[in-house]
Amino acid sequence: MALILGLESSCDDSAAALVTSDRQILAQAVVGQADRHSPFGGVVPEIAARAHVEILPDLIRQVLADADIEAGEVDAIAATAGPGLVGGVMVGLLAGKGLALSTGKPLIAVNHLEGHALSPRLTDSSLEFPYLLLLASGGHCQLLEVRGVDDYRRLATTIDDAAGEAFDKAAKQLGLGYPGGPAVEKLAEEGDSSAVPLPRPLVGSGEPHFSFAGLKSAVQRAVASNEHRPEDIAASFQQAVVDCFIDRTRIALEASDAPSLVVAGGVAANRSVRAALEQLASDHGRRFSVPPGWLCTDNAAMIGWAGAERFAAGLVDGLDAPARARWPLDGGAEKVRGAGVKA
Ligand code: KG4
Ligand code: ZN
Repeated sequence: MALILGLESSCDDSAAALVTSDRQILAQAVVGQADRHSPFGGVVPEIAARAHVEILPDLIRQVLADADIEAGEVDAIAATAGPGLVGGVMVGLLAGKGLALSTGKPLIAVNHLEGHALSPRLTDSSLEFPYLLLLASGGHCQLLEVRGVDDYRRLATTIDDAAGEAFDKAAKQLGLGYPGGPAVEKLAEEGDSSAVPLPRPLVGSGEPHFSFAGLKSAVQRAVASNEHRPEDIAASFQQAVVDCFIDRTRIALEASDAPSLVVAGGVAANRSVRAALEQLASDHGRRFSVPPGWLCTDNAAMIGWAGAERFAAGLVDGLDAPARARWPLDGGAEKVRGAGVKA
């Protein structure tokens, strides 16, 4: 059994966790920075990096104390090394390097996307490779075949905005503040999802790529028209995203013989998204898996778990591991026009 300390600092959540290779989470702590960023309507990179400097050391101390473990007792230190806001990534990665140096334990430089991609295996011990993954977060919207640790094939990506970004922008238009996803989901509960006609970009196209920029503009117009109730806009927007997910994922499912469908990343915390994908999997005779909501949004348990999976595969890194703003999971994937504009 290996014990891994996971560190996460790629966006606006500072997090630390102690995770074992037999799927126990001995301790974990996440501190969001929404209060620091909300006056600006989005994450300010420099504020995020400075906040990680302040917050992360206390979180590391806290998880070690909660689990009654000394830093030297861990088997490896897994820190997010990208992709993300590179100032923040450097803070967590350098903290991990300092701990690795002082304890003599190996560093594992984790791709944040691999953290999301492997997260369902932390809580679902019977989820085997390969599986088809819809990874929907604030920075990414991709369909990937997860063949194993460090082994990904990207089937589709977004040609403009990420799904979580679309939720955040819709929330901003509706005056709901940041982060937008949970606020839009809550408001949508009161609304009629068929009240506002909104586009479903790329639905029906043969390649399973995503696009959300046109939906964002349509929400903007719906708000400006003053013709609709905000809750109806929220519900109709959420339904449009769900419809895009279902149509695009169906295309990928039909092209893949992976026995399981998985959804992960912050947007997978959304109950309408979870329910619709579960139904899609069942319609196609596939097993469905989704992590609990707290494991969908950014956290360090998933980084510790990805570290445990990499450690078991003998994948450790040197102290020269770089912090990366961009770091695709499938380095061999063909470029898609318009894709990868956002980190
Ligand atoms: O995975 P994550 O925590 O961070 C990134 O790696 O980007 O994803 C954050 C994104 C944000 O855009 C947030 O609005 C969205 O996930 N999100 C949601 C929900 N909870 C978080 N979107 C829709 N419904 C939710 N309940
Ligand atoms: Zn994330």
